[in-house]
Amino acid sequence: MTRIAIIVGTKGRGSNMRSIIEACQSGVLNAEVALVIAPSESSPALVVAQDLSTKTLALQNFDIELLTTLVRHDIDLVCLAGFMRLIPKNVVEAFEYRMLNIHPALLPKYGGQGMWGMKVHEAVIASGDRESGCTVHFVTERYDEGAILHQLKCPVLADDTPESLSARVLQLEHECYVQAIQLWISHNA
Ligand code: GRF
Repeated sequence: MTRIAIIVGTKGRGSNMRSIIEACQSGVLNAEVALVIAPSESSPALVVAQDLSTKTLALQNFDIELLTTLVRHDIDLVCLAGFMRLIPKNVVEAFEYRMLNIHPALLPKYGGQGMWGMKVHEAVIASGDRESGCTVHFVTERYDEGAILHQLKCPVLADDTPESLSARVLQLEHECYVQAIQLWISHNA
């Protein structure tokens, strides 16, 4: 069974993390979330993970401890969910094509440093694009640039606000991440 580690950020709701954990627990994915990792004890997603009976770890020296932590827990696949920083080079190299991230737009558009949260949806609406969506891609040393594994699309409506678009895309993200992991497993496990 594929052993997944999810890395969450300091502020995230943990909704993508939840959908991955639930897909594993219900048997939709032939995988187990062995560990949820955060860079701080105060990450709200850690409480959500614990409520779902999932092991959590807050790494105080995140950049230094991450690789040994993943290796020690025999992790096959790393999923970033709401983690907004770059991953250290040694981890990117060790987990090449084994580390995924989700972005709330159709990359390569609307990605890169500083493009996160509502800023992404504001930019999509300002552009006049008629569709948006989400992208699961492999993680590299640069923001949002790795090869794309999976995308799902949704319409941008004439009366959308960044908030209404964000809510539509977030629903899609939950589906997209589970499908992307399924794809990864079918090619790698
Ligand atoms: C999502 O919009 C994801 O695309 C981005 O960060 C957000 C995390 O949301 N990378 P959540 O914590 O999973 O609810």
